[in-house]
Amino acid sequence: MKLRDDDKLRSKLVDYVQDAHAMEISVTMMLESMIKAADDPKTKEMLESHLQQTTEHKRRMEERLKALDSHRSVRKAGEAVAVAVPKGLIDRFRSDQPGKIARDGYVAEALEIAAYSLLEQLAMRCGDEPTAEAARRNLADEEEMAKKIAATWGDAIDMTLEQEGIAA
Ligand SMILES: [Fe+2]
Repeated sequence: MKLRDDDKLRSKLVDYVQDAHAMEISVTMMLESMIKAADDPKTKEMLESHLQQTTEHKRRMEERLKALDSHRSVRKAGEAVAVAVPKGLIDRFRSDQPGKIARDGYVAEALEIAAYSLLEQLAMRCGDEPTAEAARRNLADEEEMAKKIAATWGDAIDMTLEQEGIAA
């Protein structure tokens, strides 16, 4: 492989890690607003434990960015936050139902699963094992969280109906 292609490959990897980092910042804000909106103690606990994991995910990506290209990475990560977090997301969850929170939480996990699966593949093609391993570790947590949410569909609907005063 020519040196030029190596540079392009590395730059693509930095790009994917930056996106993952921005995604984790966005998910942090989403989880914080979901925690505020959640009334159910079990749901709150599940979200809080994933928020802790998310902090670790973000840290892992920061570590990889520093190892890859610190100056450029930090600047772009800051820019990406504004793009990654939709306006009004925080307020939206305040009035949302448990069913909608579960749905959006699951979608967020699916996005993260896809992002880390792709990052792992790209990192392996770059011969960057530490980044591939960081992607794998984050991926395992996201898959676990997606399974946890998927186990609550019935509860989420029951809570939604109860909250609205609708008898099933
Ligand atoms: Fe994550």
